[in-house]
Amino acid sequence: MRYFGTMNNNNGTLEIGGISVKKLAQKYKTPLYIIDQQLVEDNILNYKNNFKSNLFETEIVYASKAFLSKGICQLLSKYDLSIDAVSAGELYTIKSSDFPMHKVHMHGNNKTIEELKMCLDYNIGSVILDNVEEFNLLNKICEEINKNMDVMLRLNIGIDAHTHEYIKTSKHSSKFGESIFGDKVIDTIKKISDSKHLNLLGFHCHIGSQIFDTKAFLEGIEVMIKFLKKTSETLNIKIPEINLGGGFGVYYTEEDVEIDIKSFMQEMIKHIEKISQKENVNLEKVTIEPGRSIIANAGSTLYSVGYTKETFSGLKYVFIDGGMSDNIRPALYQAKYEAVVANKLNDPLTETVTIAGKCCESGDLIIKDCHLAKTDFNDLILVASTGAYGYSMSNNYNKLVRPAVVFVKDSKAQLSIKRETFEDLIKNDLPLENL
Ligand code: LLP
Repeated sequence: MRYFGTMNNNNGTLEIGGISVKKLAQKYKTPLYIIDQQLVEDNILNYKNNFKSNLFETEIVYASKAFLSKGICQLLSKYDLSIDAVSAGELYTIKSSDFPMHKVHMHGNNKTIEELKMCLDYNIGSVILDNVEEFNLLNKICEEINKNMDVMLRLNIGIDAHTHEYIKTSKHSSKFGESIFGDKVIDTIKKISDSKHLNLLGFHCHIGSQIFDTKAFLEGIEVMIKFLKKTSETLNIKIPEINLGGGFGVYYTEEDVEIDIKSFMQEMIKHIEKISQKENVNLEKVTIEPGRSIIANAGSTLYSVGYTKETFSGLKYVFIDGGMSDNIRPALYQAKYEAVVANKLNDPLTETVTIAGKCCESGDLIIKDCHLAKTDFNDLILVASTGAYGYSMSNNYNKLVRPAVVFVKDSKAQLSIKRETFEDLIKNDLPLENL
């Protein structure tokens, strides 16, 4: 398993943030999500220091769907990053952390009236419009309450990046945004720019997630700038901004050649500068929206080993006390991970096992064919790089409680999200009264 951030082998036991995972397991129980705060901060700074230009302003918006808690909002605020949201629930969570709401940008392909009103009520930074019907609705609400809002229009720019089918977002058949290849898009842009209450900042695109092919991003930049130029000339309007989305691929296993953020951010900036100068487009601001690449490698999940089993067919299982309820990604996307026996780091990796969860589902397998040290009951297994889309996609299947999330830094641990209780599991569940 590759070590990230502050991970360290101290006499055979894994430490993160200077704290032994044994201690974390004793204090907070397992399963447990552990966030290496230093690594999150380093990742934030890596973006901030390298995604900047002398020609235009830049904005880094953390995609909160990757992992959202009050703690992460506080960290982002400390470094002056922005945040996106795609639902009322995300907006509410962000607001509850006292995050500066003018640095929040609202996404979503089917925002409800309630959500649009909440954006206005909270005075957020901008709404990224998905389609013309949404424009009509937001425009009407703004007229009614006589409020203005900055908006962008999400475009589908038709870049087919290589990633899992479910997380591609720019295929022609994608549900997100308005295609730049159709006739309707120009009319939609004209309507927005004619609106008295909505101020069109520019265009947004997001070509997909966990993308390694950097050419896809560079191509996307060119398509966006050319489209912006064509549109502003056709409609004779000024369009000052583009938002290029997120999707920068990270390391999960040796199969992944992750994007080096420092060098690729510099390359992107140079490319944007070059294309915009060549096309004679005066961009005032360029935004990106990384989620996974800020939080994935900074998060791990710690489990306790329960039983082991060798099946009649010869497959060896190691069972853990969590599973697809805290990490649905292997079941949903065939996502792969690396793991170690975190209290036996110096033992030889003699076993090839399938790490399986405790959910009542044959597909509840976290890692297949994993090389591990020999395990015993109550050993600790740490699965690395679960920081993104782990907690945020967790669920209560089989009424498992969601694990706690703990931030570690400088040999101190801070509980960031409490473990759910049985009471939490039934708090909205009302008995029938008509019996
Ligand atoms: N911006 C927009 C508009 C997005 O839709 C997304 C992710 C991002 C930014 C951030 O992308 P990132 O940098 O995290 O790749 N649940 C899937 C990932 C879904 C991503 C959805 N959109 C997974 O677990 O792999």
